[in-house]
Parts: sequence; C-alpha cells; structure tokens
Amino acid sequence: MSECRKLTGKVAIVFGGSRGIGAAAARRLAREGADVGLTYVSAPDKAADTVRAIEDEGRTGFAIKADSADPTAIRNAVTQAVAQLGRLDIVVVNAGILRLGDLQAVSLQELDLMLNVNVRGVFLAIQAAAAHLPEGGRVITIGSNTAVRSGYPGSSVYAMTKAAVAVMVKGIAVDLAPRGITVNNIQPGPTLTDMTAGHIDSIVPSIPLKRVGDPDEIAGLVAYLASGESGYMTGSSLTIDGGMAL
Ligand SMILES: NC(=O)c1ccc[n+]([C@@H]2O[C@H](COP(=O)([O-])OP(=O)(O)OC[C@H]3O[C@@H](n4cnc5c(N)ncnc54)[C@H](OP(=O)(O)O)[C@@H]3O)[C@@H](O)[C@H]2O)c1
Repeated sequence: MSECRKLTGKVAIVFGGSRGIGAAAARRLAREGADVGLTYVSAPDKAADTVRAIEDEGRTGFAIKADSADPTAIRNAVTQAVAQLGRLDIVVVNAGILRLGDLQAVSLQELDLMLNVNVRGVFLAIQAAAAHLPEGGRVITIGSNTAVRSGYPGSSVYAMTKAAVAVMVKGIAVDLAPRGITVNNIQPGPTLTDMTAGHIDSIVPSIPLKRVGDPDEIAGLVAYLASGESGYMTGSSLTIDGGMAL
C-alpha cells in the first residue's frame, strides 16, 4: 500500500491542526504517508484526537500548544517539529479566527488579534518553517473566499486578513522559487466546522452547488498541493467554495 501514498517519507507541520479544516488536513497528510506535527491553542483534547488519528494511519504525530499570535511560540513549534520528526517538507498554515463586527463595533483589541493571528502569524510561521524546507518543499496557507467575494456585513477585518494572505503568498512564492519551494493558498467557502456552526445554513442559498463544504474536501486540495503533482504551481490562490465567488 505504502507505494501508493504520495507523501511517504515527508514531514509536515499544520498550524491549527486540532479541529476543523486543519485536523482534516493533518489526517489526510498522514494517510498519504507523512509524519505530522500540529499546533493548537485552546483544545488539547481535540489535538490529542487528531494525533491519535495520525497514529492510526501508521504515522508519527505530535501536538504542541502554540498561539499563532505569539511569535516565540510559532518559532518554538517549528523547532520542535524538526527536532522530533527529523526534517520538515510541508507547512500548512491553517490557524485562523473569525470575528464579525460592524465598522463601529470592532475594538482595537479585536482588530489587533485578527491581524496578529490571520496575517502576522501566517507570515512568521512561513518564515520560521522555510528556513528548514528542502528543495521540493511545500508551503500551503488557508485563506478564504472572502478575499474575492467580500462585502458582507461585519466582515471587513476578516476579509482584509484573508486578502492579505493571498497577496503575501505571491511575494513569498517569488522569494522561495529559487530554492524550488512552492507556496500556494487555498480559499475555502463556507465549510462545516466549529467556526461556522450555527450560522452556516443561511448561506446555502447563495452557493451555486446548494451545500456547504466538508473539511475533507479542503484536505484533498491540501494533499494535492503538498504532493509532487503540483510542482509547477506557485503563488496561486485556489478557491474551493461550491461556486459562491463566481
Ligand atoms: N470553516 C469555514 O467555513 C472557513 C471558510 C474559509 C476559510 N476558513 C479558514 O480555514 C481555517 C480553519 O478554519 P476552521 O473552520 O477549521 O476553524 P475552527 O474549526 O475554528 O478551527 C480553528 C483551528 O485553528 C486553531 N487556532 C485558532 N486560533 C489559533 C491561535 N491563535 N493559535 C493557534 N491555533 C489557533 C484552532 O486551535 P484550537 O482547537 O486549539 O482552538 C483550530 O485547530 C481558518 O484560517 C479559517 O479562517 C474557514
């Protein structure tokens, strides 16, 4: 079986791998043969569940608490992943937060938190991980289709952070191209996770496919971008949203 796996011998780190899309990505990377380290901030039990799922695939997994708003924690997570798993080939930067609020309702604290986790944390995670990536390394960010289909009430800060990721990826792709490392961004639409539970059904009518996404569908795209098959793609943002952004 192992020869069918796309990522045998590879090591990945998933920032925000305890729940939702990040956990699905971590499980899928393990299914493809990778050992996987993951970070979490608030849900150690969910992180432990995901590690068990990685181990059930016959791979090595470990979880480390690392707040993506904390630069030191981000760098420590990368150092620990390399120390425990021996190398680093794939970095998935998924950790992100959604806070909705009208213009006047957004506090300075919320603004800073979203920028720190969704933008600064993404940059610092890539910066720290890229120092270890070999030729053929893969950087994958999880943005959002709100970067291209914006204009929802209360979404200005969130959409701004995800648009920043899409642009960031282009510059980093050029910076890392001489080393043969690709950098791409996945832009999901509404996907059933804790982040969207409770308000996702009202969005369905505006989705041409008339359903929300499953985290495993996003994970499938992560697996493709992590594999050798995607080697000619870099700097791209790929929207996966049931046609919502059309
Ligand atoms: N779900 C959607 O519809 C959707 C659509 C477009 C884009 N996205 C993006 O996809 C990514 C994942 O979303 P999701 O729906 O899977 O969210 P989720 O269910 O809320 O899970 C968020 C994940 O990120 C981690 N995380 C959150 N803040 C963190 C921090 N400060 N430091 C480290 N880790 C942190 C969480 O860790 P803990 O478990 O420890 O809290 C968890 O693993 C986000 O970037 C989100 O913006 C989601």
